[in-house]
Amino acid sequence: MLKEIAFTVNDKAVSLEVDVGESLLEVLRNRLGYTGAKKGCGVGECGACTVLIDGTPTDSCIYLAVWADGKRIVTIEGIAKDGELSKVQKAFVEEGAIQCGFCTPGFVLTTTAMIDSGKKYTREEIKSELAGHLCRCTGYQNIVKAVEKAVAE
Ligand code: FES
Ligand code: FES
Repeated sequence: MLKEIAFTVNDKAVSLEVDVGESLLEVLRNRLGYTGAKKGCGVGECGACTVLIDGTPTDSCIYLAVWADGKRIVTIEGIAKDGELSKVQKAFVEEGAIQCGFCTPGFVLTTTAMIDSGKKYTREEIKSELAGHLCRCTGYQNIVKAVEKAVAE
């Protein structure tokens, strides 16, 4: 069954017809060209497909596209502004927190939401916030350092 939905992606208005069984990840990647969100596990375990939905980090592989109707979606493509990396992206580069990069968009988006919350985080709280993200290159130490740096600034 098809349904017409409308939402914004990185402040751009989008409307399209989707199958009610289609995931938001499929729509973003295959139909709208936002390939920054990655398909890792496909079952809500790895965080590679994370996008912000109304500011909340969400696994888009297990989020139906029809649920996004009327929502504000931010993908990794919307994080740099006017060609300049965000402070989270810069911290990841500076701390060498990127290896293959497959997990990086998810980590960056969750960290961005942490900063937007205005809350202060201890190292343990940072680790807990990042618990839904897996890095198959196992670069966790540098990732945590990068997130600490970004949230401290
Ligand atoms: S691909 Fe969505 S959580 Fe792994
Ligand atoms: S940098 Fe390769 S999966 Fe994290």
